[in-house]
Amino acid sequence: MTRYARITGTGSSLPPQRLTNADMVELLAPRGVETSDDWIVERTGIRARHFVADGVYASDLAVEACQQALSAAQVAPDDIDLIIVATSTPDMVFPSTATIVQRKLGIAGCPAFDVQAVCTGFIYALTVADSLIRSGTSRKALVVGTEIFSRLLDFNDRTTCVLFGDGAGAVVLEASDTPGILATDIHADGKHTGILCVPGHVSGGQILGDPLLKMDGQAVFKLAVGVLEDTARATLTKAGKTTEDIDWLIPHQANIRIMHSTARKLKLPLDKVVVTVDQHGNTSAASIPLALDHAVRQGQVKKGDTLMLEGVGGGFTWGSVLLDF
Ligand code: UT7
Repeated sequence: MTRYARITGTGSSLPPQRLTNADMVELLAPRGVETSDDWIVERTGIRARHFVADGVYASDLAVEACQQALSAAQVAPDDIDLIIVATSTPDMVFPSTATIVQRKLGIAGCPAFDVQAVCTGFIYALTVADSLIRSGTSRKALVVGTEIFSRLLDFNDRTTCVLFGDGAGAVVLEASDTPGILATDIHADGKHTGILCVPGHVSGGQILGDPLLKMDGQAVFKLAVGVLEDTARATLTKAGKTTEDIDWLIPHQANIRIMHSTARKLKLPLDKVVVTVDQHGNTSAASIPLALDHAVRQGQVKKGDTLMLEGVGGGFTWGSVLLDF
């Protein structure tokens, strides 16, 4: 019998502090940095984002998302035998955020590690977890995307600081006789490391290089619209499906224009696209599982629906996962 990996529960976490575009205008004005609600909404679709308070870490948001996912799946923490955390904003240089999440959940013994693929991190993590479950190595996995991008933002750079937010999303992925994940597709092209990066690093007790986010937005935009169509088509082909089989497209939530352009290229009606970028901004590796959890809790995504999850981001990385929910 074919062994599949199936999502049995979802969860998410957003820090309480919510900043609207008007709040960002007010925050940036004393620095002499001008922006407006009209520009942000028109160019990105973003209306609000959440920022964590001091002392809150990626593992804290991840733990809340995991607890919700475990409860939705009716799985006890002790039954988890794999933890993969996708993040570019880990609590520490090491150990991994996954091991910190493991400790905070009171689990011991199972493998726990981070995946670093920036905004495609959750797609990479889900792909790895799917492989480990289908090979028989793991039975019940927690797969998490968690980010605190507010700490990487340059509030003197209006082209990036209005785009990102903090949050986490998690799924419980279990071995099952019925599908499940139908196909996955992941890629990277290191030629483009410079168009979206945080170049700084820690050396000899100091931060060397710039530790704030840099993005060539137009270059990222152009690459994103091309690869998101390609990866969706590749995953559909691997699964023997067509775009007509997709009930919901859950893309990385970076810019509503990229999401709509992908849907149009795939000839999917725009009302089949799950959109949370308006309320969360770009939460990098957290954006897809956050959007999935919101769509499930709002009753949009239902058991049995076929979902196309797809991500794109720094590296350059991109990929997609087609699944029956
Ligand atoms: O998560 C990883 C994936 N990331 C993405 O997918 C992001 C992809 N890129 C984008 O979403 C878009 O390129 C941006 C939203 C970043 C920028 O949108 P754009 O339509 O490409 O704008 P632009 O960079 O061409 O800038 C247009 C104008 C410029 O003014 P001038 O030079 O025409 O006078 C900018 O200075 O908009 C100006 N501008 C702003 N104005 C008000 C840039 N940022 C702002 C701002 N407020 N926050």
